[in-house]
Amino acid sequence: MRQKIVAGNWKMNNDLNESVALINQIKEALVEREDVKAIIAPTFIALDKASQLLSGTNIGLSAQNMCSEDSGAFTGAISANMLKSVGCEYVILGHSERRTIFGETDKLINAKMKKAIASNLTPIFCIGETLEERESGEMKNVIEKQVREGLDGISESDLSGTIVAYEPVWAIGTGKVATPDQAQEVHAFIRNLLKEMYSEELAENTTIQYGGSVKPENAAELIGQKDIDGALVGGACLKADSFVAIIKNA
Ligand code: PGA
Repeated sequence: MRQKIVAGNWKMNNDLNESVALINQIKEALVEREDVKAIIAPTFIALDKASQLLSGTNIGLSAQNMCSEDSGAFTGAISANMLKSVGCEYVILGHSERRTIFGETDKLINAKMKKAIASNLTPIFCIGETLEERESGEMKNVIEKQVREGLDGISESDLSGTIVAYEPVWAIGTGKVATPDQAQEVHAFIRNLLKEMYSEELAENTTIQYGGSVKPENAAELIGQKDIDGALVGGACLKADSFVAIIKNA
């Protein structure tokens, strides 16, 4: 059985005090479940404090990004070991905002994936097509390229445990959610690709989250699809009640 995982990507929201308040509200409202794991991804400045507040809970802690290098002259960057040192267990890599706004390429994302895995951080590896790519019939080619290049040179044993997040760019922060059928189709395609590239076992055991305008109202139907194993949530994770409701409905 694959584990269902609901992760909240806070993006560039909440200062330290606001982060502490939100974590405390989530802790209070969340009834922990064996079958659904919750993860939060606050900003870098809140990770240390978040890790202290989450100790003794089953809520996982993720960063939103990291550098592919270990240390040195990379102004403004944060390394995998720095994330580990504040208690981070996961890191979101390849988010579409990193790809489009910050110009991250598949090659760079691949280097980050390798560094995260080598540092014992579990990647949440994001992929997804734009509306233009979907409408021009390029969707599957785009997804396949992102998967093949993002995972290039990573062995099956190293990849095992990695979380994949399918996030159609046109559904992120737009309120336009993919229909359960649209999302299921791409999730099945990704799982099949993992089977082709690795093995049936790896494909069947890999958690593939859906992301893009997930809310309490649409979470159950989306996550109820055969190949959808949870959600990566943006806007709706900034309020404890809606984040907790998504986990409850998963
Ligand atoms: P959204 O963001 O839920 O606000 O659409 C999802 C994401 O970017 O991970």
